[in-house]
Amino acid sequence: MTIVANRITKPITRLVVLAVSAGMLALVSATAAQDPATPANGAAIKSLRSEGSVGAADVSGTTVYKFEADGPPLPRDFIQQPPLIPHTIRGYTVTRNFNKCMDCHAWSRARETGATKVSLTHFRDRQGNELAQVSPRRYFCMQCHVPQTNAKPLVENTFVPAQRLH
Ligand code: HEC
Ligand code: HEC
Repeated sequence: MTIVANRITKPITRLVVLAVSAGMLALVSATAAQDPATPANGAAIKSLRSEGSVGAADVSGTTVYKFEADGPPLPRDFIQQPPLIPHTIRGYTVTRNFNKCMDCHAWSRARETGATKVSLTHFRDRQGNELAQVSPRRYFCMQCHVPQTNAKPLVENTFVPAQRLH
């Protein structure tokens, strides 16, 4: 009985927390926008990283990276790796009520869309119960699956993939 209660209440509690924090964010930004002491160029925004404030010059050079062209699945480097997303995700939103990824990756859609069916392991909750839907802990796909862009690696990487996979 307790297990059943857990399964129902936990995701809901989490979603409520998310909704509340989203609401608070909206409130904070609304207040900031109304505050006449905050210049529009962001000059007065304090950075957590340094003593100084973040000026417009610090963000103007931000590069916008392009998604790699859509392609076949990318090689995996180790068995347990969340596979990389081999396609653009522009406009693919995941919200409390709607998950664009599941539009193609759901078991009911995979045949017609050609997408890989969402992994079996994603239907298991923390207690090991098998669910009929993707478990809440696997709902936000981009916590683990990331798309690829044309960004250059920031540091040299000497990682060697697990040999059994090659
Ligand atoms: C319009 C349909 C569509 C949508 C929406 C979509 N995908 Fe895909 N996805 C595909 C297709 C098709 C493939 C397989 C490409 C192939 O096999 O050539 C794929 C492949 C993948 C793979 C690689 C699987 C593997 O075995 O390597 C991952 C991971 C993935 N998608 C994640 C996502 C995530 C996360 C989202 C949401 C942000 C998403 N997809 C949204 C169609 C879609
Ligand atoms: C907490 C991390 C995590 C989240 C969140 C997550 N995945 Fe995964 N996913 C993985 C891992 C790890 C694998 C590879 C091992 C496995 O299958 O469990 C995987 C595998 C996959 C595969 C490949 C399945 C196959 O047959 O090879 C697809 C497709 C996929 N996930 C789609 C999704 C979609 C769509 C979502 C969102 C609804 C999602 N994943 C959410 C970690 C995650």
